[in-house]
Amino acid sequence: MNFAIILGTRPEIIKMSPVIRECERKHIEHFILHTGQHYSYNMDMVFFEQLGLPDAKYNLDVGSGAHGEQTGKMLEGIEKVLMMEKPDAVLVQGDTNTVLAGALAAVKLGIKVGHVEAGLRSYDRRMPEEINRVLADHSSDYLFAPTEKSKNILLHEGIPESRIFVTGNTIVDAVHQNLKIAKEKNTLNELDIKQDYFLVTAHRQENVDDPVRFTGIIAGLERLSQEFNIPVIYPIHPRSRKRIQEFGIKINGSIILIDPVDFLDFLQLESNARLVLTDSGGVQEETCILGVPCVTLRDNTERPETIEVGSNVLAGTEPGNIVECARDMLERGNKWNNPFGDGKAAERIGRVIKSGGMGDERKVIQYNGMRIRRD
Ligand code: UD1
Ligand code: UDP
Repeated sequence: MNFAIILGTRPEIIKMSPVIRECERKHIEHFILHTGQHYSYNMDMVFFEQLGLPDAKYNLDVGSGAHGEQTGKMLEGIEKVLMMEKPDAVLVQGDTNTVLAGALAAVKLGIKVGHVEAGLRSYDRRMPEEINRVLADHSSDYLFAPTEKSKNILLHEGIPESRIFVTGNTIVDAVHQNLKIAKEKNTLNELDIKQDYFLVTAHRQENVDDPVRFTGIIAGLERLSQEFNIPVIYPIHPRSRKRIQEFGIKINGSIILIDPVDFLDFLQLESNARLVLTDSGGVQEETCILGVPCVTLRDNTERPETIEVGSNVLAGTEPGNIVECARDMLERGNKWNNPFGDGKAAERIGRVIKSGGMGDERKVIQYNGMRIRRD
């Protein structure tokens, strides 16, 4: 059995890291195919270095571009590698264009697909991530659902139960594996943070590419900071920085923009924040795991478990709502159960992989040097 682990962005590197470690631990043959969707040092290589991951065997260097252009380049590049390497299966994680291209390229070659973090739905088709999730799930042979809720979503969409494995979310593994080391780092001193602060991340296309929504977020953060007399720290995603410049959005002194930080520093920033405001998927999960209240700057979420346990609330992007939701969350306390598992998701995924389930269930024929699956 040989596996291609396909990844390309910051959250995929972080959330696949426990799976890669598990493959190493269990001596499961694998190689990493990086699409190059993220390429800046602080969005990509820093995580390989910090998490001690092996180098990618292939990097397609596709870089940034319009959705069709970016996904098309990936599809072409991934297909070439898969035809050359002929892996028994590929693993993808999450909902990015890399995931869509990886799943699609593999399924069309008759190579089995395992989707880590399957079954998440925002039911908002304006989000590119929602399209990517649905298509990846329906191209997959092995769906690693983080919770029973995500499993039920898949069942309702007609996916056979035999393909679905509830594993927990690998982000719990990643947090457990790194939190202790993170706590030993002197992040707050290094960033010269000497007082309480709110932490923010916002990078979603539907938020930051829309001047009205992005301006609403910034106005809400400024009001919040004024009301509590607490600064806002915003490690800013490159997409968002670009839009601030393009739209000429003015940021006053209460919001401190810093470059994206590494995973250990970010875990430290999250753990010590009074409150986190975000439109990130991974950050909604991490705050829930770490016991830090979260306000989500979106109208919906594919992580409803966080709302149900009470760690998170949906504020949208209207300034008044942002402040009101933040006030509510600050009063709510931080006692809830983590719904995303026990930190053994990668172990469970490894078990399914190792059991050989992913390679030999269907017959495979050779065509033109390509593997074609025959049911
Ligand atoms: C992508 C994912 C999103 C995920 C996010 C994680 C899709 C459709 N979107 O969004 O789901 O939450 O990654 O962070 O796949 N840029 C850099 N350096 C980089 C990468 C990007 O400067 O290393 C800039 C470029 O200007 C680029 C922009 O960021 O145009 C957006 O990058 P892109 O990968 O297209 O989407 P993300 O917003 O990162
Ligand atoms: N993260 C990080 N540095 C930062 C901001 C975020 O390491 O400056 C990590 C964070 O801990 C989480 C992941 O990046 O694990 C989330 O990625 P992102 O918000 O880019 O994507 P999403 O989860 O929304 O797809």
